[in-house]
Amino acid sequence: MKIIKSPAKMCSVVKENRIKGKTVGFVPTMGALHEGHGSLIKEARSENDIVVLSIFVNPIQFGPKEDFKRYPRPINKDKLFCRKEGVDFIFYPAAGLLYPEDFSTYVIVEKLSDALCGKSRPGHFKGVSTIVTKLFNIVNPDAAYFGQKDAVQAAVIKRMARDLNIPVKIKVLPIVREKSGLALSSRNIYLNKREKIDALVCFQSLNLAKSLINKGVRDTDKIINIMRRFIQIKDTAKIDYIDIVDMNSLIHINKITGNCLIALAVWIGKTRLIDNMIIKL
Ligand code: PAJ
Repeated sequence: MKIIKSPAKMCSVVKENRIKGKTVGFVPTMGALHEGHGSLIKEARSENDIVVLSIFVNPIQFGPKEDFKRYPRPINKDKLFCRKEGVDFIFYPAAGLLYPEDFSTYVIVEKLSDALCGKSRPGHFKGVSTIVTKLFNIVNPDAAYFGQKDAVQAAVIKRMARDLNIPVKIKVLPIVREKSGLALSSRNIYLNKREKIDALVCFQSLNLAKSLINKGVRDTDKIINIMRRFIQIKDTAKIDYIDIVDMNSLIHINKITGNCLIALAVWIGKTRLIDNMIIKL
């Protein structure tokens, strides 16, 4: 396994491999790797000759009051994790190499970027689509692997690749959870013991919604209200949003008539957690 810090070097290494006819799978991350990232690496490993994983805490996708400085950066642990999973190259650039002082070009995926998390994190998805475009240009992979955990991100990246004719196959893989049901996240380390238990309301409320739908409830306001009341029982929990949306447009629906996405963001103490569930009818 090699660690590459220079974008030019990363680009040329992939080029050499592609000339030899090797396929390249790419897993973009911000590090603090866990089994959620692990599932993406495993899929990339099984489908490609070469696996590249990037670790870059992207400053432009964090709002001014968000946790950019505090975000965990356990690079040595991450290297061991990647070695164990069979990653070939870690792309680990410094921010200065990707964002020179006069950086001024951005990629914006309209509408989708304002849905769900986009409402409470203005500019976040502009930062995500811009860095992912840059990483795609540097790594030039055949396929890139993302998690359903970040449902809006996955939709934004898919749309961006389609709209801009980026020749990368986008793969979206299911949410990996702890046994308790808590979705794995690099931010879970911010939670204390009590908050970690309270955080289970996220997945439990999604299951509650699913059971209501299975019983025939179709009115989304009714479902959302029941989820809301269930989450509010925990006094560390503060709801950012709960929504039931169309799978493709991410627009709110009033009545469930087919497949849809239930998504939520909840503050547990000072930590904002997201979770979601795809409902197939
Ligand atoms: P990060 O939060 O490190 O996540 C990297 C990838 O892992 C994302 O595609 C995310 O959806 C996926 N992932 C995280 N937790 C998961 C879980 N529990 N189950 C399955 N997949 C999971 O997402 C980012 O980084 C950044 O926004 C990035 C795309 C790298 C751009 O900066």
